[in-house]
Amino acid sequence: MSKEISVLISEEEIDRKIREIGARISKDYEGKVVHFVCVLRGSVFFATELAKRLTIPVTIDFMSVSSYGNSTKSSGVIKIIKDLDDPLEGKNVIVIEDIIDTGNTLEYLLKNLKLRHPESIALCTLLDKPERRVADVKVDYTCFEVPDKFIVGYGLDWAQKYRNLPYIGVVETEE
Ligand code: IMP
Ligand code: MG
Repeated sequence: MSKEISVLISEEEIDRKIREIGARISKDYEGKVVHFVCVLRGSVFFATELAKRLTIPVTIDFMSVSSYGNSTKSSGVIKIIKDLDDPLEGKNVIVIEDIIDTGNTLEYLLKNLKLRHPESIALCTLLDKPERRVADVKVDYTCFEVPDKFIVGYGLDWAQKYRNLPYIGVVETEE
């Protein structure tokens, strides 16, 4: 089986969009400190680039989750593998995601995070696959909508590889 990756969104386009979203967040949260909750591992690449474009203070924390059950279908019930280091109480939280697919993971995660009494909570994603949405999650900041294809690069993996691609690509598989 050979695999080819075709470019869907170039490095320049991503850069431009992250600057734009960074400016929007800086304006929306003017005078405040934002607290990024970064979901490992895919969103790390996006989170650090976005953080560099903010003109307001930002703190950052990480958590790692995995979904229970059937591995090919997201069940929505997630297990926290690594929890946040710091409490969220009183903070202006922005959850940073690489991609929102069914939205099941996010729906569960947001419920969990809201119980920790943040001042506010918003959701920011690099990619959104709206065609696949099952759960009703409200996304506050989206960089790009993508078609229902297998996406890699800029943090997204295919069997843990290709996260380091500087662009967003689509895996074309051939037997
Ligand atoms: P869901 O929104 O609960 O279905 O799960 C979203 C998670 O599935 C993301 O955080 C990714 O880790 C993974 N995922 C979904 N679609 C893709 C894709 O096209 N490429 C790589 N990972 C994906
Ligand atoms: Mg992920």
